[in-house]
Amino acid sequence: MATSAASPVLIVGSGLIGRSWAMLFASGGFRVKLYDIEQQQITDALENIRKDMKLLEQSGSLKGSLSAEQQLSLISGCSNIQEAVEGAMHIQECVPEDLELKKKIFAQLDGIIGDGVILSSSTSCLLPSKLFAGLVHVKQCLVAHPVNPPYYVPLVELVPHPETAPATVDRTYALMQKIGQSPVRVLKEVDGFVLNRLQYAVISEAWRLVQEGTVSPSDLDLVMSHGLGLRYAFMGPLETMHLNAEGMLSYCDRYGESMKRVLKTFGPIPEFSGATVEKVHQAMCVKVPADPEHLAARRQWREKCLMRLANLKSQMPSQ
Ligand code: NAI
Repeated sequence: MATSAASPVLIVGSGLIGRSWAMLFASGGFRVKLYDIEQQQITDALENIRKDMKLLEQSGSLKGSLSAEQQLSLISGCSNIQEAVEGAMHIQECVPEDLELKKKIFAQLDGIIGDGVILSSSTSCLLPSKLFAGLVHVKQCLVAHPVNPPYYVPLVELVPHPETAPATVDRTYALMQKIGQSPVRVLKEVDGFVLNRLQYAVISEAWRLVQEGTVSPSDLDLVMSHGLGLRYAFMGPLETMHLNAEGMLSYCDRYGESMKRVLKTFGPIPEFSGATVEKVHQAMCVKVPADPEHLAARRQWREKCLMRLANLKSQMPSQ
């Protein structure tokens, strides 16, 4: 665990994702400075983090070995970017998903940082070659894409710019591990990174199956939540192949031809509009009406499930 004497982490943008990062870094014992252009956002973030940490502590789900009060004492707000950057060893950008805004902020930070700090973006889908183009400190830049809610879903995709120094990726990888996250290295940038490419492949075939009338929207979701998804919480598709035969070679030998036959029947990219979107929307609303209260309640339920799953995963021997 880091000591409070270690250099602080700076979070730029204290919205949903900035707050989660602040909690995660504090759980690892790091001092955290929260910066935002809106002073009110910083005030709200600090209050929100206090409330969340207390609740997590009460339910026994607070991360790290420090108490909620100890972790809270590590987080402070800062409304001056120059002061905020002072002494920081890692800067995690969390402003809205807008290329021009992010480029402006990185250009500003590029002008005031030294050579030892890492500049990391939380972007969900902007490519590093677009975000960091022309920066003097490009070797120190990368994307560290978290998954919402990062406190319960530990994956972080590390995506370098072609000119990012390998040491920048290594240092960020080690930092993510220190705060209990599960980093993966995306070896070269690709639109959608890895997680969203997998997610879109699943959504795409789910949509086509519903559109063609092969399965109802609610049964389609059950195939994942009561079928594939249960395995995938513990192992990925490649290890699943390995276990579902006598190893990977045997799986490909046995099932390669049938996989290719089925894959050839996949249709074109769906439009995600028209009659199918109406049909899927209606089906989803039967379970969760699309008003703010019902959606918020269901999201809360999902967070509770993820919290329990995270506890279970931490108790399972990894073998
Ligand atoms: P948000 O809208 O909740 O928060 C953005 C914050 O940035 C606000 O507090 C805003 O005041 C602040 N801000 C705006 N301009 C600023 C500036 N010039 N300097 C400093 N602060 C500024 O956004 P959210 O959801 O936290 O997303 C942040 C980033 O994280 C985005 O790039 C998003 O794509 C990414 N992300 C979001 C996920 C999600 O599910 N919300 C999941 C993974 C990544």
